[in-house]
Amino acid sequence: MQVNLSDQSVLVTGGTRGIGRALVDAFAEAGARVAFTYRSSSDAADELVDTLTDQGVEALAIQGDVAEMDAAQATVDRVLEAWETLDVLVNNAGITRDGLLLRLQEDDWDAVIETNLKGVFNFCKAAYRPMMRQRGGKIINISSVVGVTGNPGQTNYAASKAGIIGFSKSLAKELGSRSVTVNVVAPGFVETDMTAELSDSAQEAMLDAVPLGRPARPQDVASGVLYLASPAADYITGHVLHVDGGLAM
Ligand SMILES: NC(=O)c1ccc[n+]([C@@H]2O[C@H](COP(=O)([O-])OP(=O)(O)OC[C@H]3O[C@@H](n4cnc5c(N)ncnc54)[C@H](OP(=O)(O)O)[C@@H]3O)[C@@H](O)[C@H]2O)c1
Repeated sequence: MQVNLSDQSVLVTGGTRGIGRALVDAFAEAGARVAFTYRSSSDAADELVDTLTDQGVEALAIQGDVAEMDAAQATVDRVLEAWETLDVLVNNAGITRDGLLLRLQEDDWDAVIETNLKGVFNFCKAAYRPMMRQRGGKIINISSVVGVTGNPGQTNYAASKAGIIGFSKSLAKELGSRSVTVNVVAPGFVETDMTAELSDSAQEAMLDAVPLGRPARPQDVASGVLYLASPAADYITGHVLHVDGGLAM
């Protein structure tokens, strides 16, 4: 898919690893200016900026916890200061803290909801006014197959990811008249650090349920996001795009 996003400013949360890293690379390849956030991987962030700069891509790495409203506002302000517009926002940063509800601690619940769901709220709220004023923009929020189907041991994660879907549909209705689209990508089983933590048996069980018979590569998810960020998707809003090899069926 050839997508041309030259002159567009893109912000990806959690861009140092996994799906976020693939997103940064895909947007850079499409000719966009790319800002990304990270929480603690500062070496990886610096390296990525150097690589992008060598490729002639304008890039910004911004440290901050997505769960903090002030950090979200400061990040969006910094992008606007540097590039004047924010054309595409991808809320990708996310964590898991798995455990059966019987054993799940309050901390595990709070950390996952605050990072995965409040993080999306924070960045969408910070981007709301600038995108409204621009009368255009594309917001893509990364949910999960688990937010649609549920998964034992992931009540906190599933709640955060299902919450993202309801949040995004509501925001799509709020911002539609300003030509700002809000969509969701729901990946299935993707090969990243997050899934590497799963036991071999959990990985096998997950793979057995994937009709396409293989895990997703981060680039598979990036292709779906890039499409929703492209002019080809101008008339799509409030949509949940499953990039899961058929897992949610
Ligand atoms: N992997 C899958 O199978 C899968 C499936 C469905 C959905 N997803 C979703 O896709 C997204 C990316 O997942 P992934 O597998 O690529 O994860 P990952 O490899 O664990 O990378 C997570 C990224 O998010 C950043 N991050 C985490 N917590 C943060 C916080 N509080 N503030 C700022 N940045 C934070 C990390 O930054 P640092 O490097 O600095 O820690 C890192 O860049 C997540 O929302 C996840 O829920 C993943």
